[in-house]
Amino acid sequence: MQAINVSIGFDRRLWAQDLAGSKAHAAMLVAQGILSAADGALIQGGLDTIRAEIEAGTFPFRDRYEDIHMNVEARLAELIGDPSGRLHTARSRNDQVALDFRLWVRSACDHAMAQLKDLQHALLERAEAEAGTLMPGFTHLQPAQPVTFGHHLMAYVEMFGRDAGRFADARARMNECPLGAAALAGSPFPIDRHATAAALGFDRPTANSLDSVSDRDFALEALSAASITATHLSRLAEELVIWVTPQFGFVGLSDAFTTGSSIMPQKRNPDAAELIRAKTGRIFGALTSLTMVMKGLPLAYSKDMQEDKVPVFEAFDSLDLALAAMAGMVRDLTPDRARMAAAAASGFSTATDLADWLVRTLDMPFRRAHHVTGAAVKRAEQLGVDLPALPLSELQAIEAGITADVYQVLTPERSVASRISYGGTAPAEVRRQVSLWKERLSDDKA
Ligand code: ARG
Repeated sequence: MQAINVSIGFDRRLWAQDLAGSKAHAAMLVAQGILSAADGALIQGGLDTIRAEIEAGTFPFRDRYEDIHMNVEARLAELIGDPSGRLHTARSRNDQVALDFRLWVRSACDHAMAQLKDLQHALLERAEAEAGTLMPGFTHLQPAQPVTFGHHLMAYVEMFGRDAGRFADARARMNECPLGAAALAGSPFPIDRHATAAALGFDRPTANSLDSVSDRDFALEALSAASITATHLSRLAEELVIWVTPQFGFVGLSDAFTTGSSIMPQKRNPDAAELIRAKTGRIFGALTSLTMVMKGLPLAYSKDMQEDKVPVFEAFDSLDLALAAMAGMVRDLTPDRARMAAAAASGFSTATDLADWLVRTLDMPFRRAHHVTGAAVKRAEQLGVDLPALPLSELQAIEAGITADVYQVLTPERSVASRISYGGTAPAEVRRQVSLWKERLSDDKA
C-alpha cells in the first residue's frame, strides 16, 4: 500500500506552496478567533523552522508520511508539540493540495511568460539586424517568393506572443483560491476565505467547494498553453535543423549549441534544436496523461488526482529547458547572408513579381499573366538561366507587350521591397513590426 500510495517523492516540490498556504491559513484562523494568538505564533515559528530546514537540506522527508502535507504536519508536531494539531482546523488535504498545486502551476505560468518574453527579445534583436537580409520564402518547403530573414523571425515573435497570451489567460482564470473548501462541503467554522485568498495573491476565493477540490482544469489549461508553445518551438527547431545542414547553410551555430560525432570529425550536430523538437512529445504526453486521469472522475476528490503532478512537473521542466535553449540558440546563430541571398534569387522566386507586373503594366487578367509567366519560366529553364537573366527578346517572343522595364521587378531585392502591404516582408515594414513589438514588450502589455 505504501508503495502505491506515497507521493512525497514528487510532491515535495510543493513545499514552498504548502508552507505559504499553511501560514496564510493559520493567520486567518487567529484573526477569526478560531485559533489562539499563542498557538498561532507557535505554528508560524514552527513553519519558519521547517522552511529553514528544507532550504538547508536537513528536513527529513519520510515516505511513511505519504505526502508533503503530512510530512510538514508530522515535523511541526515534533517541533512544537500539541498545538501543531490545530493547524488543520477548517481544512482538509483536499483543499490543501488543490491550493498548493494551483500556486505551483500559477508560478510555472509566470515563469513561462517571462521566458517567452526573453525569447521574443532575442528574436527581435535578430530580426532588426536582419530586416533587409534576403532569404527564400517557402511553401511545401519549395522556394516560393523571396522574403527577409527578419520577417521570417518576426513570424515566431507573433507566435510566441500568442503563447504568452494563452498563459496569461489561463493564469487569470486559475487565480481563485480553493483554500477553505475543506474536504468537499465547506467548513462550519467562521473562516474568512476572502482573507486567505488575498494573502496568497488570488483575485477571489473559488465559488463552489465541490468544484474547488475536484477540478484540475487549471493544470490542463496550462498544459494546453505549454503544448502549443512547444509546437511553435518545435517548428523553429526544425527550421534550424534544416538551415544548419551544409545543403542549406543558411545559418551556423557555435559549439555552444552543437555537438560533434564520436567517429565523424566533420560533424556539428544541432542537438539542442533536436531535443527541443523532441520535448514537444513529452509536453503533449503530459496533457494527454492528465486529461485521461481526469475524464472519468465523479465529484469530488478521488485519489486519481494525486497523479496530476508528475506530468505537470515534467512538462514544465521540459518547457523551461526548451525555452532557455531556444533563446540561447537564437542569440548564438550566425546567418550566412550571401548564401541566403543566392538561394532567394534561385528557383524562379520572382515569378509572381513578373505576373504582377503583367497585371499592373499591361492590364492583363491575373490568370493570363500566370500562364504567360509559366511560359517564361519554362523558357528560362530550357536556357539554364533564372528570370532576371532571361533576354528581353525571349520574353517578348512569349508576350509582345513586355518591355525592359520588367527587369526592375525581377530581382529578389525589388521583390521584397515591393511588399509593403500591412504585415508584408518589405524591410521597412519589418522594421515597423519590430519597433511595435519592442514597445509592446516594454509596456508589459504583451
Ligand atoms: N497526496 C494527495 C494528493 O496529491 C493529497 C490529498 C489526499 N487527500 C485524500 N483525501 N486522501 O492528491
